[in-house]
Amino acid sequence: MPINPELGFTAAEIRDPERFVGRTGLLKDCINALNAPSGLIAVYGKRGVGKSSLLRQLQQMALGDYSLVKKAQLAHLIPEKPRTYLTVFYSCDSLITDSNGLLARLCNDQNDEDGLLRLVPDDGKEIVEFTRSKEVSAGADLKVVNWGAKGIEATKYARVVPNDTVQTFRNFVEAVISHQVRKRMKRDALLIILDEFDVIQNKEGMGSLFKSLTSADLKFAICGVGRDLSDLVNDHHSVERLIEQGVLPVKPMPKPESEAIIGKAVELFRGAVTFEPGIAGKIADLCQGYPYFVQLIGKQCINVLNEMGSNIVDEEVYSRVLNELKTGKAFPTLEAAYQRAIGESKDRQLLLHLLADQDTSHVSADEVGRIVLRTARKDAEDLDVQYIDQLMPRLIEQKYGPVLERVAEKQGVYEFVNPVFRQYICLREF
Ligand SMILES: Nc1ncnc2c1ncn2[C@@H]1O[C@H](COP(=O)(O)OP(=O)(O)O)[C@@H](O)[C@H]1O
Ligand SMILES: [Mg+2]
Repeated sequence: MPINPELGFTAAEIRDPERFVGRTGLLKDCINALNAPSGLIAVYGKRGVGKSSLLRQLQQMALGDYSLVKKAQLAHLIPEKPRTYLTVFYSCDSLITDSNGLLARLCNDQNDEDGLLRLVPDDGKEIVEFTRSKEVSAGADLKVVNWGAKGIEATKYARVVPNDTVQTFRNFVEAVISHQVRKRMKRDALLIILDEFDVIQNKEGMGSLFKSLTSADLKFAICGVGRDLSDLVNDHHSVERLIEQGVLPVKPMPKPESEAIIGKAVELFRGAVTFEPGIAGKIADLCQGYPYFVQLIGKQCINVLNEMGSNIVDEEVYSRVLNELKTGKAFPTLEAAYQRAIGESKDRQLLLHLLADQDTSHVSADEVGRIVLRTARKDAEDLDVQYIDQLMPRLIEQKYGPVLERVAEKQGVYEFVNPVFRQYICLREF
């Protein structure tokens, strides 16, 4: 019987606290942020570093499920009466143009486990309690099992104000707070979690919007790709006081945590798979702190095991995976991105490798990952690659990735949009 790689590894965000590894410092921050009576929470970091997974754990804690915190030996930090919430979880997309568009989406999203509209009281709608965790006693939230015969419409509980999204949103939130949060579930507040916030086109005024909506009854958590808060909210000055307790930068994982992802997987496979000592450490080294890459490589190890009819990931399995990676056979999605970037040009391929391999270990913490074109240009010339200026544009064009992004404040300085992809290029054989 082949082993199902998904039992132990996944490329999806981690929802189940049982599967979540490490991040003790951030879990502490989550406890503090949730238990501050008001304020905004901001989670940011690079792609694939584990932001959405952390948000899902934040959601669990908000509902009152602190099992992960207890497992991380942080039980002593849980307040005697932790603040509890009902939650909304929404992933933004780039079709949302601005703050009005965002509120309109929130008022219309019909997701029956995570949407705001599900909580708006309505005569025909049937809402039941459900738990997001395995611990039956904790983490209860509300979901819709029946939207009602009349469909979704404004009712006496929450008035839709035509052409006034902000007021409609306020009415919805007020109705949710008084009917569901207070009366029905006896919680402290409503938590609205907004993932992928960075993709919203125009973030002007977002800060003052959150400032005006945030109260003891309503808290927002926003999350997205960025180096700091100002990448998420343009007018971040207006929320600086709100956010004191809620800044959660997600950094690459320390090596022992990456290794622990393998350990966790072994546990989840329940004896069907073992990793020989030393292999988890090698995988962790390859992945540079990006849990996404650990999960991908872990999965591929299981695929190879299945081909070999074995159940021990040893040196042989590991080197097969590494070899497949080097030759572009292991990860079709990353490989497709690689081929798209080079666009059949040997010279561009070489340039891409020079850029990815550039040593950035000596630079300061916020500059890690930045590369300087001038350095690559020199290396390329030494290798006889010409016309760098014609090779570059494809690497920064939206439709081919983009692979690189200019660092706004610095001339000739770029950053790989996806650090996992950068690492893939480094490992990929030229
Ligand atoms: N704490 C964690 N423990 C185990 N795996 C994780 C953890 N955080 C992230 N991952 C894995 O890493 C990948 C990226 O996680 P995700 O939360 O989607 O990152 P982001 O939102 O920053 O892009 C997923 O495959 C997820 O399973
Ligand atoms: Mg994410």
